[in-house]
Amino acid sequence: MCGIVGCILNKEVAPTIIESIKKLEYRGYDSVGIATLTDKINVKKGSGKIKEVDDQIHLTEIDGNIGIAHVRWATHGNPTKENAHPHNSCDNKISVVHNGIIENYKELREELEKEGHTFKSETDTEVIPHLIEKYTKQGNDLLHATQKTINKLIGSYALAAISIDEPDKIIGARKESPLIVGVSEDGNFLASDVPAILNETRQVIYLDDNEIIQLEKDNVTVMNNQLEPIKKEVVTIDWNPEMAEKGGYPHFMLKEINEEPQVIKDTLSESPKIKEIVSKFKNFNRICFVACGTSYHASLIGEYLIETQLHIPTEVILASEFEYFQNTLDDHTLVIFITQSGETADTLKALKTAKKVSETLAIVNVVGSSITREADHVIYTRAGPEIGVAATKTYLSQLICIYLLVAHLSDDTWLIDKLSKLHDYSLNSLKHEENIKNIAKKYKSASDFFYIGRGFNYPTALEGALKLKEITYIHAEGYPSGELKHGPLALIDEGIPVVGILPPGPSYPKTYNNLQEIKARGANMIILGSEEDTQINQIENKILFNPGIDEIIAPLIYIIDLQLLSYYTSIEKKIDPDKPKNLAKSVTVV
Ligand code: M6R
Repeated sequence: MCGIVGCILNKEVAPTIIESIKKLEYRGYDSVGIATLTDKINVKKGSGKIKEVDDQIHLTEIDGNIGIAHVRWATHGNPTKENAHPHNSCDNKISVVHNGIIENYKELREELEKEGHTFKSETDTEVIPHLIEKYTKQGNDLLHATQKTINKLIGSYALAAISIDEPDKIIGARKESPLIVGVSEDGNFLASDVPAILNETRQVIYLDDNEIIQLEKDNVTVMNNQLEPIKKEVVTIDWNPEMAEKGGYPHFMLKEINEEPQVIKDTLSESPKIKEIVSKFKNFNRICFVACGTSYHASLIGEYLIETQLHIPTEVILASEFEYFQNTLDDHTLVIFITQSGETADTLKALKTAKKVSETLAIVNVVGSSITREADHVIYTRAGPEIGVAATKTYLSQLICIYLLVAHLSDDTWLIDKLSKLHDYSLNSLKHEENIKNIAKKYKSASDFFYIGRGFNYPTALEGALKLKEITYIHAEGYPSGELKHGPLALIDEGIPVVGILPPGPSYPKTYNNLQEIKARGANMIILGSEEDTQINQIENKILFNPGIDEIIAPLIYIIDLQLLSYYTSIEKKIDPDKPKNLAKSVTVV
């Protein structure tokens, strides 16, 4: 899981490439490197975040009009300078950056070592420049040598290669890892994702699996694996560069939370398209959601909605556990894959299996991502680029798509009416910032947090807890409120913060009673409830929402303030919420 960039310009390329690679830091941030071509290959690389490495070795101070760069999230080999990309051939004539995993690298490395190649890193990637070197020495040009190389690789890759013998081009290739091309009058670009090139161009070509690309300053040729040219559509991206920047906020996460009112409007505008997709579904009598992490929590809310509103048997499967449940799928099951990135390897793998027997729908944020190209139907969540590792606005947009899906499946307008008020409700939720900052200050030193909710708001408790542990490193658990007395209540002690999700609705009395049981054990209650709720007046820590927000609609609004609570707790603990340790935005390994 890494980010790659390649770029050819008629000026010094390093400043542009380093700006581009910074936009991909969400894909990994344990090391960074750049290679450019002059009369030799120039490489600068180091371990650490881009800024740290740049401060030490000045990544932009490197000559050349053509170059490649990489940010790494380690899979094979520790995050060291030696393992940082780019990796070169023995003769230092070829340099390569790669995102993905080469599964047969051990065998390939052994073969190459027997042939006399010397390796400098522990990475799977390093076999690629050595293989290209081998094939160029047999008389192939860079393009043909790369083609022969990828034919030897088992696994996934998005790669870019340069050679001093052909100093006017970059060769790229993709299989199961994302790669896009940016086209402009000043030069051409390769990148793992669109934000990397938005400062330079909005004209994009999405590459598909097994495609190879030759990038020259004034020319872009996309080919199939036999090197036959393919005509590709150039898409104009409507995200502007500012949308991919922090927009004046200290962190992407805070910016992205503040974008939620707009995301609500943008995603609701997909309603007609969702209606059309629903009309194309074949007959089904069962629904199965497949997802990971935050997208899994959105799926759980889908399960509650569908079971209660549509009475269709529904289950939710973690993508990484899918293989144990796949045998009961049939052609009367609709399988729904939820993923913001559209690249999550577990989810992609499950989709490839499910589509053999069932109709598939993907709910995805990233246009043109791998999962959108595999599913029978695609709904886009329209959250725009999300850079913070913690999913915030994409979660909300996934929920809106699920609610719209249910509304159109049931042909009911009452749910659509409820959704039409979301924008105003969300503006109100953002006004709680000062109150939330104070709560975060009070409980920043807690070692454990519990979140409880019932029904539609049990997944909200899970998501609130995930957000907290992810960016504050505080141990947090979400429970259905009725479940505590069956075990976890033993953990409740004097002073432990418990977040109670208590919107008005049929589940209110039971959840209220469960909260009393917890309070009696000395917990510090943080209650999310309605402004009209007189029973919670005496509670010190409360976050109050507009009265119209009942328990069905609460998951879409209460989560905004739970995201803010995690964000400000992270700030109090002096943690960078955009880059939590050990995590990456797009998890492209199984
Ligand atoms: O891109 P996806 O939605 O498929 O990602 C799934 C999870 O990795 C993701 O939701 C993760 O749990 C979030 N970063 C948590 O905030």
